[in-house]
Amino acid sequence: MFDSSFPIRRIDHIELYVGSGRQVAEFFQRAFGFHLTAWRGLETGSREVASYLLEQGDIRLVVTTALTPESPVARHVWEHGDGVAVIALEVPAVDVALERAVAGGAEVASDAEEAPIAGGTWRSATIHAFGDTRLRFVERRASGGAGVSGSWGFAPGFEPRASLSTYAPPGGSGGDCGLTAIDHLVANVERGAMDRWVRFLGATLGFTELMHFDDRAISTEYSALMSKVMQDGTGRIKIPINEPAAGRRKSQVEEYLDFYRGPGVQHIALETADIIRTVGALRDRGVAFLQPPATYYHDLSARVGRLGEPMEALADLGILVDRDDEGYLLQIFTEPVPDRPTLFFEIIQRHGARGFGEGNFRALFEAIEREQARRGNLD
Ligand code: FE2
Repeated sequence: MFDSSFPIRRIDHIELYVGSGRQVAEFFQRAFGFHLTAWRGLETGSREVASYLLEQGDIRLVVTTALTPESPVARHVWEHGDGVAVIALEVPAVDVALERAVAGGAEVASDAEEAPIAGGTWRSATIHAFGDTRLRFVERRASGGAGVSGSWGFAPGFEPRASLSTYAPPGGSGGDCGLTAIDHLVANVERGAMDRWVRFLGATLGFTELMHFDDRAISTEYSALMSKVMQDGTGRIKIPINEPAAGRRKSQVEEYLDFYRGPGVQHIALETADIIRTVGALRDRGVAFLQPPATYYHDLSARVGRLGEPMEALADLGILVDRDDEGYLLQIFTEPVPDRPTLFFEIIQRHGARGFGEGNFRALFEAIEREQARRGNLD
């Protein structure tokens, strides 16, 4: 049974703190087909940070950078490199959400505050979660009382903006890449901490455990990890939490924790309705993906049965396939996006399957370990 007592409408946005906001915003436009729709910075009266709102389908990323060394954003980037600082959840009532989260043991990062936005009012509050990652509750109310939507009223201090004036890519940003929504996002936490964060999401947000994978399910010859998938009452928001398990060598989760200097968001899975078109477009734009071993496709038909997509196209693009009782899914993973081997993206298309590609874990992790070895971090 879902616990629907804690209403969360959706992931409102994900905010990344980065070293150079303008260039990372440019990257998400050019490489992933996001559209810049709003921003804040010196010209809008924001003296401490600049932020860029990037949208595609229902996905909203905010890229924020420090304008002064005293900014907490600068401190975050110094410690963690570029990464996810805030997961923002749209709720019907911030005060109710905050009260329940605090009753469940959450520590408040910033109390509820209200500010005008175009067309209405914004109310938000922030709590601490794993590592330096925070969860922000967001509520928007139109002046008339009903909820507002659309980037014009995104957040206080943001003003509409369609392009970065310093650089206009030839031929524009090239349109979107068919990315529609955030399917899930995954947190890496320290060894022994997974269950604490599972309980935290349960107590503070009313999340429940959808499924779990032990270290026997997720292991290679060298390393292992454990994962529990948490989801909200509606089942729309899914947050798997990974912790490293003992293996012969350093697991990919440990590599992340070493370089991120603690727990944080490991990957963001973006949904598409046509993964062949999306991944083709991303590759054309230069996005680098992890390659499955050549043997991956040899017995794939026997393992996953008939698919709606041509197997050759999937193999050409390096797309992985997995099947469960309810259907199948197609997925592929980018190389880490920042300089440190931390945050990466997944592209996923679901045909009924509700899993996370368990059948691909071994092939995928072996591909990750090859990259890890090239970085000198598989010892
Ligand atoms: Fe994933």
